[in-house]
Amino acid sequence: MMTKHKNTFAFHYKKIPKRQKCALTVAIWTLVVFIVAISLLQTDMRKSSSQSQLRLNHLSIARELEKIEHEEFHMPPTRRKRSPRAFQRRGNRRPRTAIDEFLDESSDLRYFFFPDSRREYVDPRGILDANNISSTYYYYPGRRWLDTDGNPIQAHGGGVLYVESTSLYYWYGENKNGPSYHTHEKGTTRVDIIGVNCYSSPDLWTWKNEGIVLPGEETNVSHDLHISNVLERPKVIYNEKNDQYIMWMHVDDSNYTRASVGVAISKTPTGPFTYLHSTRPNGYESRDMTIFKDDDLKAYLIYSSEDNTDLHISQLTDDYLDVTGSMRKILVSQHREAPSIFKYENIYYMVTSGCTGWAPNKALAHAAESIMGPWETLGNPCVGGNKMFKMTTFFSQGTFVLPLKGFPGSFIFMADRWNYAELSDSRYVWLPLSVDGSFDDRMEYNFGFSAWSKISIYWHRKWRVPSEFRIL
Ligand SMILES: *[C@@H]1O[C@H](CO)[C@@H](O)[C@H](O)[C@H]1NC(C)=O
Ligand SMILES: *[C@@H]1O[C@H](CO)[C@@H](O)[C@H](O)[C@H]1NC(C)=O
Ligand SMILES: *[C@@H]1O[C@H](CO)[C@@H](O)[C@H](O)[C@H]1NC(C)=O
Repeated sequence: MMTKHKNTFAFHYKKIPKRQKCALTVAIWTLVVFIVAISLLQTDMRKSSSQSQLRLNHLSIARELEKIEHEEFHMPPTRRKRSPRAFQRRGNRRPRTAIDEFLDESSDLRYFFFPDSRREYVDPRGILDANNISSTYYYYPGRRWLDTDGNPIQAHGGGVLYVESTSLYYWYGENKNGPSYHTHEKGTTRVDIIGVNCYSSPDLWTWKNEGIVLPGEETNVSHDLHISNVLERPKVIYNEKNDQYIMWMHVDDSNYTRASVGVAISKTPTGPFTYLHSTRPNGYESRDMTIFKDDDLKAYLIYSSEDNTDLHISQLTDDYLDVTGSMRKILVSQHREAPSIFKYENIYYMVTSGCTGWAPNKALAHAAESIMGPWETLGNPCVGGNKMFKMTTFFSQGTFVLPLKGFPGSFIFMADRWNYAELSDSRYVWLPLSVDGSFDDRMEYNFGFSAWSKISIYWHRKWRVPSEFRIL
């Protein structure tokens, strides 16, 4: 059939005079070009309309997350009976503050900071809330958060790593699921080292327990990770060169005098991690710390040093297993800890806390054009809640800032609400953080002279990442 048809066409075409043949060829080509042009234009229009749709969506999402939400709590009337520990902390007759109430396990406000009704758990197993409304994907900062087995998530002082090959997020943090106690009169509350937990999730909300990926050492008392020591703020990055997952963590004795960093490695994100060694980076003390991997694959260790007076930043070796000699002191004499670093449009940002032990304090945001500094302090990034919320980082302390994939300029600020009396029941405070690059904002912020965008962390009693995020 095909051959016959072709022959027929050839036969007729041959019979057409030469000049008309030429005109016909031109006409056919014009038509082809026209059709191609139309279809190109159409795809282009479709693309740009979907792009502007995305931009519109993005704007409405930003408006939603950046809504300013107020929060109220009333200080309870003064009572005579207080827990002896709280009384001791208060010292003489200074009026009680919201922080005193927060730290006092017998306070009437306890429930406000540490709700414990089962109906209020963040539960990924499709359970309805008290009003029979599905609370799927909603973060409720401060509430207990369950994993897919129904157990409270134990990943304190943690950080999140996205792994392309598995399309999963991995949340690493301290397993503090043991009794809180004081080692001696003047010692702070502590929990023995249990190890570093890992959870995996496709959506940053439904977390599956992958177990303890770096356990504490139970018998060898001279081991860095002996259960009587301290392991805090574990963070993991991936090393392309050696195809290894590298974990850095704060390693210390129970009096915080060793002030070192430890390193562990694994071939897979879910471990087990092999502990390598600990060090004082370039000979300096290192307490609260984090690591940051830049776009050019260089990585850095940022740590509180010199009795928490300064932060230091040290570049890591190419295998990420040690520091190089390249080191700078930053935020000198500012007494900052709990650093978390992120980058947006070639500017580096950092959120830090003050140094007040387990008690919450005011966060500060900082910015720099080069990661090695100079770093400039921008101010308190907390927005909404109330005055006390803003002065206490929403009664929590930052640990990590996670970029929201597909939403440039949008991040999740991850923080810990430390439960001083019972550290295992410390809560997670995850909130939207945005880098607000609008020119008007900059003008207002710093009389038009600053090159820095504004960093804002918005309080929400309940919020979720845009549904578009889960499709991407
Ligand atoms: C929720 O659903 C349960 C079971 O269907 C029902 O018994 C209960 O009254 C409902 N609660 C509310 C607040 O609607
Ligand atoms: C105990 O730990 C130390 C320090 O890591 C190590 O040198 C030593 O070999 C360990 N001892 C045993 C019996 O494993
Ligand atoms: C911590 O300090 C206390 C009091 O100074 C002391 O008794 C204890 O031995 C110290 N512990 C360690 C592990 O250094």
